[in-house]
Order: sequence, then C-alpha cells, then structure tokens
Amino acid sequence: CNHIAFYRRQKLLHPGKSLYQALLDSVTLCNDSVKLQIINEKNKVPLLVEIYAIEGNIFRLKINEVSPLKSRYEVPDVLIKEPTTQRLSIAQKEAGILVLTCASEDRKLHITANPFQIELESKGETVLSVNTNGLLYFEHLQPPPQNRCEISISHSAVFVMLLKINQQEFRSGALGASAPQEAPVVGLKPRDPPDPAGQKPRAPPPHHRAEAPSPSRPGPSSIGLDFSLHGCEHVYGIPEHAETLLLKNTSDDDAYRLFNLDVYGHKIHDKMGIYGSVPFLLAHKPNRTSGIFWLNSSETLVEINTKAIVKLIFGRERQRVVPQTDVRWMSESGIIDVFLLMGPNPFDIFKQYAQLTGTQALPPLFSLGYHQCRWNYEDEQDVKTVDAGFDEHDIPYDVIWLDIEHTEGKRYFTWDKKKFQHPKRMQELLTRKKRKLVVIIDPHIKVDPMYTLYSQAKKKGYFVKNRTGQDFEGICWPGSSSYLDFTNPDVREWYADQFAFKSYKGSTDILFVWNDMNEPSVFKAAELTMQRDAVHHGNWEHREVHNLYGFYQQMATAEGLIKRSGGQKRPFVLTRSFFAGSQKYGAVWTGDNVAEWSYLKISIPMLLTISIAGISFCGADVGGFIGDPEPELLVRWYQAGAYQPFFRGHANIESKRREPWLFGDENTRIIREAIRERYTLLPYLYSLFYRAHTTAEPVMRPLWVEFPKEQETFGVEDEYMLGK
Ligand code: NOJ
Repeated sequence: CNHIAFYRRQKLLHPGKSLYQALLDSVTLCNDSVKLQIINEKNKVPLLVEIYAIEGNIFRLKINEVSPLKSRYEVPDVLIKEPTTQRLSIAQKEAGILVLTCASEDRKLHITANPFQIELESKGETVLSVNTNGLLYFEHLQPPPQNRCEISISHSAVFVMLLKINQQEFRSGALGASAPQEAPVVGLKPRDPPDPAGQKPRAPPPHHRAEAPSPSRPGPSSIGLDFSLHGCEHVYGIPEHAETLLLKNTSDDDAYRLFNLDVYGHKIHDKMGIYGSVPFLLAHKPNRTSGIFWLNSSETLVEINTKAIVKLIFGRERQRVVPQTDVRWMSESGIIDVFLLMGPNPFDIFKQYAQLTGTQALPPLFSLGYHQCRWNYEDEQDVKTVDAGFDEHDIPYDVIWLDIEHTEGKRYFTWDKKKFQHPKRMQELLTRKKRKLVVIIDPHIKVDPMYTLYSQAKKKGYFVKNRTGQDFEGICWPGSSSYLDFTNPDVREWYADQFAFKSYKGSTDILFVWNDMNEPSVFKAAELTMQRDAVHHGNWEHREVHNLYGFYQQMATAEGLIKRSGGQKRPFVLTRSFFAGSQKYGAVWTGDNVAEWSYLKISIPMLLTISIAGISFCGADVGGFIGDPEPELLVRWYQAGAYQPFFRGHANIESKRREPWLFGDENTRIIREAIRERYTLLPYLYSLFYRAHTTAEPVMRPLWVEFPKEQETFGVEDEYMLGK
C-alpha cells in the first residue's frame, strides 16, 4: 500500500478528533433527504452531506464538494433504479446534536456537530457509526497550476521561482509520488510523507504519478471515511481476493485492495486486488447482520481493525467488554456515496443489497451443467473427438469452449480459416446432441485497418482515448490493440449488435460468450492495466471508471445475446472482471488459479465471498488453470467443483491434456460419478438459482448465514451450504 500515493496521503491523517464540524444551521429538510454542510476546521472548505432513508432499512450518505471545480464522478448504471426514499424528520436539534427519525420504520440517526459524527440506530440499538475515528478525508479539486501561477506572481521573484520549480514537478508528474495530504499549496515544495517503517518507500509505478492537476484532471481527488460496527468481530465480503472468508485485521498488514487486475497465478492469502471488485462488506453478530456498500469504481482500499471496547453497564457498577470492528474506506477519486444496510438478518442484507444492485440473472439450465474448456481445443476435429469422448465414457456434459486460438489472429468475432473452416457444421453436430458452444471475446481489438470491427470502431470514435486525444493503444494477445469504450452507451449498443447472426458469421443460437482480459489487461503496462489518465466517454479519466470496465463489457455482451434471440432467450456470459451488480449479466470465475491443493482449498472461501456479495453464479477452474494436477488433485477438484455454482474444467495452453478419461479407469469412474452427482442435483440447483433471482438468496452460502446464532460457524470456510 505504501506504493499508492493517495494511501500515503490519507495515512497522514491519524485516528482522533475529526477535522470536520457540522453546521447545524445549514440543515435543510427535503422531501427525499436531509442536507447539511460540514466544514474542515483547518482549510475552512465546506462539504455537502446528503442523508437518505431508503425503503427497506437502508441509509444512504453522500458527501461531495459544495461547488466542485468540475463535477466529480458518480458511479452510473450500477443501481438498478433511483432508490425509493422515505421522509426523515427532525426529532431534536439542540446543543450540537441533530436527531433524525424515519416515520415508517423504527430507526434513527444521531448527528453530532463537533466533531462531525453520525450514529445509526435501529430498534433502539446503535448498529453503526460514521467518522468515529475522525478519518473523513476529502481532497478538493484544484485549478491547474497556470491559474495559481498568475495569482502568485505579484508576490515576489523568489516565490515565482519556487513556483516554477513546482510546476515543473507537476508537469513531470513527480508530485504524484509525494503529493501532500492537503491539496498542493503553491510555493511550498511538497515532501515525501515519512515512511512508517523509517524507510523511504520505493518509487511507485508510473501510473501513480499522474495525479498532478492537468486540464482534464484538477489535481488529487481522493476521499475516505471510517465506520464502526458495534458488537461485531466477524466481517466478510469485499471480493475479490485470494483470501479467507473472514476478513482479517489489517493493522499490521496491507489494506484490502479493490482494483481489477490481471494477475496470472495470483498469490494465496494476499490482499492485492485481482480480477474483480465488489465494494460491499458484511458484518455479523448473533442478533444482527449489517452491511456497508461503498459505491465507488476507482481504486479503493479497505482497512479493518477489530478491537475490544470496555462499556459501562448503565445503573450498575460493572463493565462489559464488547467487540467492535472499525472499517476505513479510501478511494482514489469520485465522491463518498455509501449505503448502510441495517439487516437485521443475513437474508435481509442480501435483499437490501439486491434492491440496490439487482439479483442474479437466472442462468439457462444448460449452463448449470458441466463445461469442458481448455486453451485451446485446436480445431473442429479436436472438438469432435473431445465431444465424442464424453459419450464414449458415459460422462454427461453440456458445453465445450473455444479459447483465443479459434480466431483469425485474435480478431474476435472471426474464425481461424484453417482450423475452423465450418463453424456452423461443428455447431450443428453439437446441437444434435443438445450441447452448446462458448467462445471467447475479449475487449481489446487488434489494430488492423483490414479488420472490420476495428475500422468501424475507429471511424465511429468508439475506442478509449489517451490523454492527447488519440485512440489508446496497448499490447494484448493480438499485439497492438485499441480498447472499446464500453462506458459509452452507444458503444455498448453497437457492440451488442455484433452478436446478431448476420453480423457474427459462423455463429448459431447455441453459441454463448466468455469475456476475458477485461480488467482491462494491457501487457507491458504498469500493473498490466490501462494507464489511469486514458480518457473515456464524457471526458472521464480511466482512474474513475477502472473497476467498472469489465462490468460494462459483460452488460453489452449479455444485451447482444438477448437481442439476437429477439428478446426470447436468456444469455450466458462468463466474465473475469466484475463489479457490484455484475450478477445481472451472468457468471464470473476466479481466473488463473494454479493446479495445487492450496488453490483448491482457497476456492471455497473465494466463492463464498463472491456469493454473499451478490454474485451467485461463480466458479473456479476445475483442476487449476496453471500447471498439471496430479491425478488425485484433479479427481478431488471434480468432486468439489460438482458442488460449486459454475462448474468448468479448464487448463492453460502449456498444461498437458486432462480430459476426464485420461487418468486410468478408476479415476475416470470417480470423475464420472462426481459429474453425474452434479446432474442429479440440477433441478435443485436450478431452483436455488430461481430463488437467487427472485429473492436474492445466495446459492452457495457460508454456514453462518443458515445458523446466524451459532458462533462456532462464523469462521467456517471448509464447509458450506447449497441452499438451506
Ligand atoms: C486468461 C484467462 O484467465 C484464461 O482462462 C484463458 O485461457 C487465457 N486468458 C487465454 O485466453
């Protein structure tokens, strides 16, 4: 985390009394919210706070600049609708305290003016409080340095000189690595914050440097806030990490990072961001589950600190020790927009979260069967042979997959003319057996004027731009590539149309789609992703929308498959990168795991975490993607995978072939049995998905969800429930 500039700046603010005070005279009661201003006692700059009571026991808190230099990014398209609000009324406003009540439900908000804090109460119990540790942090947008230069020139020649040095640093980006806590002050040379370990932090990757004000970006804009969960010591969620189900204390370690990245063979027990991000945290204690949904799509860090609090028991001379978990959220940009879900039981939380972001799309039945994948099935004959192998060995399966090599030079929506000469004929063969085909379609588009998809998108201006306004180009599978800007609704519509049978030559109605590399992955770039100052639709920098990129690609793909069926058929789209709400568009998998026992083990907490964060349709590559599993590992992985929501065997291009019948009769028999067991359970699984779709119950669930009062279940991650 010390390599991340906004983290270092925010860490200069220590827990203690908040710098912010609420101006209770500014309180305005609106139909749908209560608005007030808070002011930073040091820089005297006010912020606007909006508080909403949302139907179904949810509060929403928005904090933004009162009059930002330029609008700040607010995440669109994730909430399924504008939430229905309930009227708040003022129950008390005196002596620096404001109490708001919600008429239709027994819940209250206590706002303290100095320091600014909020306590949320439900049925007389304080569930959660906001800014108790005083970590509210807000970097205000600044005018570009030229403007401030003009203001200061009149002061003195020395000052002007200093200023020039500073501008130089701004322009060269040197400041980003060492930006000060407050917005940069002209004339003062910013210094590196002291490193806690007494060592100078290593130079951050170049993308962390581009934080200086520029015409499109008025300086650093990070935000942060802390929450205290009273009585809670068990917290979950915020996928995706290769970590335990129970979130760990981060006080001696890195924060959990939410930043979608392509990490080949990602490390286990690491808080580093991998392919997907859902900024939703759940807290549980025997009598209540609550949740925090931090709606922000820029890079986000979450710190967790569970501690014991000594409380005096009222009226008696006794003390009680109760746990409390403090959670600090920090994001690189955007506004503070947070939903506080009050439960009280786990299923209420799932409903509340789904009320905001939607439920799991109901998968087509076939997609709950077994999927056979490999990078790559070489040609039509290979597909035919593998398909026949399942029949010969009497193993049921539903879908065979084609990876990137099936295309003409990694030009998606095309077929390699030599290896896949008759794609329709191949699909007819599968159709006869009621089987399906899934093909890969990545977001990067080969730079090749002869490739229609590229030339059309180029002409229409549908690619992400670089900071000079040219199409962004990066390296990926096809070599030099541009990246479709899926944040643009016109691009999504055009992209969806590419799936029409008349456009996508050689496709039939049994062809479904796999979106990969959509973090987005950019080879030879910092952290293998797009540079943060690339520019998207609406002139938003990539840093603002980074975690949403894959969400939008899957959305457009699902839309395309629905459209091509005339609105008749449910789509199936698997994505590697995801965000809150991705459940509406299909399935996710955990990316490039390794053929080792530890990865089989971690698949369970990883999938449980993704499931309780709203995405029920999830799985891990059976067998482990990288390397060659020993036969027993492969067999055990089939046995485990058969009980996980998305069930696909997959292997890397360098791995040996591992179709289920290649490891001797006995192993084939056990794998057959496991896959058949899956098929025996299909009606049950399909019903569970129906419930996930209609009532937001996760398909795969941790034990504590079913046994919320049984403390001994709270940390269990090597057993789980499928439904009840
Ligand atoms: C990376 C994906 O994670 C993997 O599943 C796929 O096989 C390769 N890309 C090649 O497309």
